[in-house]
Amino acid sequence: MTGLRVDASRLWDSLMDLATLGATAKGGVSRLALTDLDRQARDRVAGWLRGAGCTVEVDGVGNIFAIRPGRDAKAAVVLTGSHVDTQPSGGKFDGNYGVLAGLEVIRTLNASGVATEKPVGVAIWTNEEGSRFVPVMGGSGAFAGVFPVEKILAERDIEGVAFGDALVAIGYKGRVPVGGRPLDAYFEAHIEQGPILERETRTIGLVTGALGLRWYDCLWTGQDAHAGPTPMPARRDALRGAARLIEAVHALALRFSPDGRGTVGFLQVAPNSRNVIPGSVRMSVDLRHPDDAALAAMDAELHAAAGAIAAELGLACEVRQVASFASCRFDAGCVGLVRAAANAFGYPHREIVSGAGHDAIYVARVAPAAMIFIPCKDGISHNELESARPEHVEAGANVLLHAVLARAGRACAKR
Ligand code: HGY
Ligand code: MN
Ligand code: MN
Repeated sequence: MTGLRVDASRLWDSLMDLATLGATAKGGVSRLALTDLDRQARDRVAGWLRGAGCTVEVDGVGNIFAIRPGRDAKAAVVLTGSHVDTQPSGGKFDGNYGVLAGLEVIRTLNASGVATEKPVGVAIWTNEEGSRFVPVMGGSGAFAGVFPVEKILAERDIEGVAFGDALVAIGYKGRVPVGGRPLDAYFEAHIEQGPILERETRTIGLVTGALGLRWYDCLWTGQDAHAGPTPMPARRDALRGAARLIEAVHALALRFSPDGRGTVGFLQVAPNSRNVIPGSVRMSVDLRHPDDAALAAMDAELHAAAGAIAAELGLACEVRQVASFASCRFDAGCVGLVRAAANAFGYPHREIVSGAGHDAIYVARVAPAAMIFIPCKDGISHNELESARPEHVEAGANVLLHAVLARAGRACAKR
């Protein structure tokens, strides 16, 4: 079974090539969704996929689908892929690895003259990160019918630019309807973005599911006033409310240890002037937990904490949920194919639940899906230092190749 192997250096070279688009001084990648750098990355990978004999289609929210025909043209596609948008201070591997491992699967099938029964495809999902445009995983969510297309197109970034306008500007507002494409299965390769696989010296993570997530925008309102003449008791300082809630979110996540997560990563202070008491502060809150009831309890505690702080400091606080998905379990059959491939190659592996959100979570709503994790250095991701070892990059792609092939079925040697 393990006769077929990917070309490790070809895969690594494609990763390093793509990483030049948005390369940062510290060795990371900054390539926000629907920017010109995103366009360049899409163009480059779509060109490689066309060069590998795939037809390439783009849907109405910019999701890209590259399809290698199978012998049975009517069969649903066995899809793989991920995303090429990154965090503002992202790395070379988050998302890009899953897309390029998919390309490498196609290239390996071509080089070996292997025809498959079912078509095999690679997807590039739009705006997985949710950094420039909320919600997170907007493209795959629209594909899965979780978000109306109009809602996604109307979302605005911090400058007020609409998603739909940015999509048109980069030339990726496709004509293919969003969603409704039958999928036989979906496999996504990704770095773990945490420390477990590396710590346990495992090469492959059999991802059985993912944490549930809730994202919020919290708007604190006090009163702008002069930093000098305004007596301390007379102040309504919105930044004090935000500061208290930042600490409360951390304490809340610790109360739901060991799996609860709470993060405030975005803060916007107005008027953001050193001698003005801030009258308005916008902050994000990211809560996660593998158990949906626990996540609901964390939600209630967040609202209670914000209300108590606002009352104590004489502020107003609006807590608005802007994204959420329940915890999910991936398809046992697909996880089994990943396990069988890892066993066949003798790669040390273990089951693992993803702390990060991935497009596979939404795709799993419309097709059997599973993920393949590989370790990343020091478990660090969403950081320019993000790194992975070539042998792990190769191993994850080999497992992807064989899981996809097991599902797509070999038609016959093309020779
Ligand atoms: O937020 C996440 O988990 C993912 O990186 N978008
Ligand atoms: Mn990712
Ligand atoms: Mn990410």
